[in-house]
Amino acid sequence: MRGKIERLDDEGLGVLTLEREFHIPFTTPGDVVEVRRWRRKKRRLIATEYDVIEPSALRTEPACPYFGKCGGCTLQHLPYKEQVKFKSERLSNLLGTEVEVIPSPRIYGHRNRIDVVVSTRGTGFRRRGTWWDAVDIEECPVFGPSSAKVLRSLREFIEDHRPSLYNIRRNEGFLRYVVIREGKFTGELMVNLVTSEGVLPEAFPEYFDYADSVYWSVNRTPSDVSYGEVRRAWGREFIREKLGDTVYLIHPNSFFQTNSHQAVNLVEEVAELSEGERVLDLYSGVGTFGVYLAKRGFKVEGVEVNPFAVEMARRNTELNGVNATFMVGEDRDVKDLAEYDTVVLDPPRAGLHPKLVKKILKDAPENIVYVSCNPKTLKQNLDALLERYRIVHAVGLDMFPHTPHVETVVKLKAKV
Ligand SMILES: C[S@@+](CC[C@H](N)C(=O)[O-])C[C@H]1O[C@@H](n2cnc3c(N)ncnc32)[C@H](O)[C@@H]1O
Repeated sequence: MRGKIERLDDEGLGVLTLEREFHIPFTTPGDVVEVRRWRRKKRRLIATEYDVIEPSALRTEPACPYFGKCGGCTLQHLPYKEQVKFKSERLSNLLGTEVEVIPSPRIYGHRNRIDVVVSTRGTGFRRRGTWWDAVDIEECPVFGPSSAKVLRSLREFIEDHRPSLYNIRRNEGFLRYVVIREGKFTGELMVNLVTSEGVLPEAFPEYFDYADSVYWSVNRTPSDVSYGEVRRAWGREFIREKLGDTVYLIHPNSFFQTNSHQAVNLVEEVAELSEGERVLDLYSGVGTFGVYLAKRGFKVEGVEVNPFAVEMARRNTELNGVNATFMVGEDRDVKDLAEYDTVVLDPPRAGLHPKLVKKILKDAPENIVYVSCNPKTLKQNLDALLERYRIVHAVGLDMFPHTPHVETVVKLKAKV
């Protein structure tokens, strides 16, 4: 079956419409493709065997040698301008109004974190479409040169000490992940080795003596996750990152916005859209928004379900010498929302809890700044909130170049 790709779907796969609709990975509008095999997945037909017969004039050469094999940056064959256009069109269609997407200030070297699989299948990233295979990598261009340095050191350590490597199918072996994090504005580097239960050779930290912080964490479970219980640490307890004038501490077990250069624009956007005096930072994490807003004179209270994130938010508050209160709590249990001039919402991908949506509609705080990493749940929540709110501003920020993901910030005002 042969035809021309006319558009990209929400996940960035090319769409070919013949008598049925096919979704074809790594293709772009204008490509002429021949599809030989496909499989049904989540009610879509995904091509598994196909050729690009005539490449589209839109294509560009991917900068990464692992493109197409690694499960990460699936849009590298699209020029960056086209990636941003695709995200802007997607958000505009969804929200029914023109939504501009602010491009990432950097499109390589921007990621401040990578989670590298260390396994019998290789040291690198999961092979696209598999949960068990890995593609060996030497450097990750979206992270930058220090990934090459850390991976070289890790390979030297493996060669010298021959620790066993994890086999995920059998749940056997010692080394499982290495997580590399870097403060892009501070240059500080963290290496966190995640292993199964076992003995780590004493010499391990010597291989990473250039890193500011080295951790060994243990994940005893069969779950394929890149964190564990901290067993030992060397060097600094935290590395730091800076967004504008605000400094944040990073710990191996804490989340931080992964694109620091664009996170500067994100916190500034949220600050510009916040009004009044009292702000609730709901889903506050490590206080990324709350601490930045407190620095701008807002009276901030944060609520977050993860106690460790709350502890980090408190430390970040102290570090920046500001006044803000962070509490452990559930989204649906927040008290009277009408007490706040602005409520900042940054929920996980699943969006707002239905009880919270009801509460917002009942209390109707005057200003809401909704930060979303999932356009689908954003749309569902907005559909409900628009009963009492109107959208006064919507903008996309490309936090994740070369992927189909996009962050959206929507300012809502209560209708009078
Ligand atoms: C997208 S992150 C945002 C973190 C933070 N705003 C930031 O930028 O670093 C979503 C946060 O919501 C928290 N969370 C998830 N479910 C929650 C719930 N039911 N109630 C409160 N917080 C929740 C997660 O722990 C996570 O920190």
